[in-house]
Amino acid sequence: MPDGSFATQDSSVPTDPHLAAEALEGLLAPTKTLPPKFFYDAAGCALFDDITRLPEYYVTRTERALLGSIAPELGELLPSGAALVEFGASDEAKASLLIAHLRTPAAYVPIDIAAGALAALRARMARSHVGLPVLPIAADFIRPLAPPAGIMGLRAIGFFPGSTIGNFDPAQAERFLRGAHHMLGPNAYFVVGVDLRKPVEILIPAYDDAQGVTAAFNLNLLTRLNREAAADFDLARFAHQARWNDEEGRIEMHLVSRGAQRVSVAGTPISFADGESIHTENSYKHSVPGFLTLAARAGWRGCRVWTDPARHFSIHLLQANSD
Ligand code: TRP
Repeated sequence: MPDGSFATQDSSVPTDPHLAAEALEGLLAPTKTLPPKFFYDAAGCALFDDITRLPEYYVTRTERALLGSIAPELGELLPSGAALVEFGASDEAKASLLIAHLRTPAAYVPIDIAAGALAALRARMARSHVGLPVLPIAADFIRPLAPPAGIMGLRAIGFFPGSTIGNFDPAQAERFLRGAHHMLGPNAYFVVGVDLRKPVEILIPAYDDAQGVTAAFNLNLLTRLNREAAADFDLARFAHQARWNDEEGRIEMHLVSRGAQRVSVAGTPISFADGESIHTENSYKHSVPGFLTLAARAGWRGCRVWTDPARHFSIHLLQANSD
């Protein structure tokens, strides 16, 4: 490392100047933020996996049950010989439910920021789905992506489960959907899992569980910056907080400073007032018509929508407008 200010405690994980620069950009803004993609280092992926099994976190369980029950219908509605392209594919659990009912799927393209998780996924798929080409893309899918050469000319079925679309604000979501439309091509379909608005009494515990797993997941951002961006956050001096923002229709994740303090990130001092927060993530909760309006602005029309009996979660089948 040419610059001595990027010294790090753990020599196996080099300090990343890009990560430090991106973190500083958010921490020096008037309202402090950190990019949510930083959540997903190895420890963060493991913690998120734990979140999906929490009793309070209804999202994964509800979506999986719904997907399982509609998969036969989806298999009939979706074209044969298509490539399945999953955005944010940390594992193949949900895609497998779909693949089991697709008619002669041509390839599976998992896209994720966590390259390690993708390698493990590919190894498992080679055993569980012999003969199905798996073409992973290790990338941040918020940026426009080119489809891999192996699926050129094939019809595409996009798959975006987990209500990750809810982690984008409406403008980002529209941009993402338009980019996906472009990447997946004409005649594409898109299967999107979208979490719905529901009482705060259900929402808050889902993002602030009794065991503190979500708190550990949120605080892991600071551990990562300490390790990879030469930061010196004292984790005991930040508190995890989940807030419902009714006006915006979103759950917000915050890390709130306990007392006034000063932290250094890659040599740059950052000061915190008592109670000042770092806003780390949003999880928008949509309505069915609200989401369809958003999708329509990005060139997708709704074919079908399914919800669970309690109407906690929705799965949309969209089709690309040919333009
Ligand atoms: N897509 C998930 C959601 O919004 C991601 C998530 C769950 C999450 N729990 C979290 C993100 C806690 C940040 C913090 O429901």
